Amino acid sequence: MTTTKALRGRAISFRGNPFEQPAETCLVHHDDALVIIEGGVIEACGPYAELRHTLPDGVVPIEYPDAIICAGFIDAHVHYPQLQMIGAYGSQLLEWLETYTFVAEQQFADAAHAGRVAGLFMRELLRAGTTTAMVYCTVHPQSVDAFFAEAERFNARMIAGKVLMDRNAPDALLDSAQRGYDESKALIARWHGRGRQHYCVTPRFAPTSTEAQLDAAGALLKEHDGLFLQTHLCENPSEIAWVRELFPARASYLDVYAHAGLVGRRSMFGHAVHMHEQDFCTCHQAGAALAHCPTSNLFLGSGLFRLFDAVDPKRPVKVALGTDVGAGTSLSQLQSLNEAYKVAALTDRKLNATQAFYLATLGGAEALYLDDRLGKLEPGYDADLCILDTRATPLLGFRSAYCDSIEDLLFVLMTLGDDRAVRATYVAGECVYDRDRAGEAFRYPAATSPHREDLPCPIA
Ligand code: GUN
Ligand code: ZN
Repeated sequence: MTTTKALRGRAISFRGNPFEQPAETCLVHHDDALVIIEGGVIEACGPYAELRHTLPDGVVPIEYPDAIICAGFIDAHVHYPQLQMIGAYGSQLLEWLETYTFVAEQQFADAAHAGRVAGLFMRELLRAGTTTAMVYCTVHPQSVDAFFAEAERFNARMIAGKVLMDRNAPDALLDSAQRGYDESKALIARWHGRGRQHYCVTPRFAPTSTEAQLDAAGALLKEHDGLFLQTHLCENPSEIAWVRELFPARASYLDVYAHAGLVGRRSMFGHAVHMHEQDFCTCHQAGAALAHCPTSNLFLGSGLFRLFDAVDPKRPVKVALGTDVGAGTSLSQLQSLNEAYKVAALTDRKLNATQAFYLATLGGAEALYLDDRLGKLEPGYDADLCILDTRATPLLGFRSAYCDSIEDLLFVLMTLGDDRAVRATYVAGECVYDRDRAGEAFRYPAATSPHREDLPCPIA
């Protein structure tokens, strides 16, 4: 029996970086495409008329009319434990952390609570069309186990790690340089490279780690191949002033991390709103990436990320897109793009739809050095896909009818779209979320469960 699958619909992909080349040369678009999937991987993607003859006998394509098939979205910066305090009123970063974040995160000492929230979080990611995310857990190792276990059940490619904090947070959330190192090491042994899971060394940000802890994070990176690093950088003026006080010997906030060996390939710095030219140069030279988190930066009033300065072709820095939930206000990368457009507009620049969708897919994959397997609809790429419904709401359907180009349609989707516009999500070739399926929309893939299981929401 063949295990081949095929999807038919409009499709987009990328063949270049639209921040470096004209957008029209970078977007690949087929009005009527066939995506052929075998063993969780894309075998072919191209015009239906050309490829339909290559389908094995008996394989009937799943048809998605009025939809766009694209690579699954990548969320390069998100905190799963913060789902329970998303949309908390009234403060800027440092007060927001103390008032809401550190309170919520203490509950993740309870593995059962962590499991329930991880279950809901994974479903909300998939409902938003996001198939890979770089995720902060809490300081508790059990919060990491809970997250990876749920990601593994869906067979989703995820990057996550235990938060490291050894000062300036409630006692219940502190580890120490040694304990943080030991617990991270044990989690790396348990999860890094298991199935599609990747471990990420995760010092929260410079103010909550001593120099000894940052050095221990650097040691972990040196001792293991292929680890990721995530932290926060230059998000808010008071935070930056505090870092200057805590690390008076360092030339800049980024230099605090560089000194500990944390700035390199597969390092992802969240926010980077208030950067100097030298910081951009350092990231460019090191191959480090920045996560642009527009809904968060607007919500906390942190400032406007200078996207076009960051990617300046004279010393381009890799930039990915992050939701930063719970400071961010939506897990939908369509909503992140909606706000990214406005942030760019406020800095006198225009983010076109090709650049926008590139940021949410291939750009994210490049920033994570996963662009050999994620971000494109091409043979050999993971079949992690998002199916966007251009008629998801009455207004979207009405407005889409007036679009006369794919760029126009993509722009309207990112302006009006959110999780309602995600018709289905595929992970390694399996349809794990189908908005319109009768009964339960979510399903663990056949490959990772003895029998297909429908999934009631873990927090009902
Ligand atoms: N800086 C340090 N921790 C956090 C966090 O949880 N969210 C945001 N937005 N910034 C941070
Ligand atoms: Zn964050």
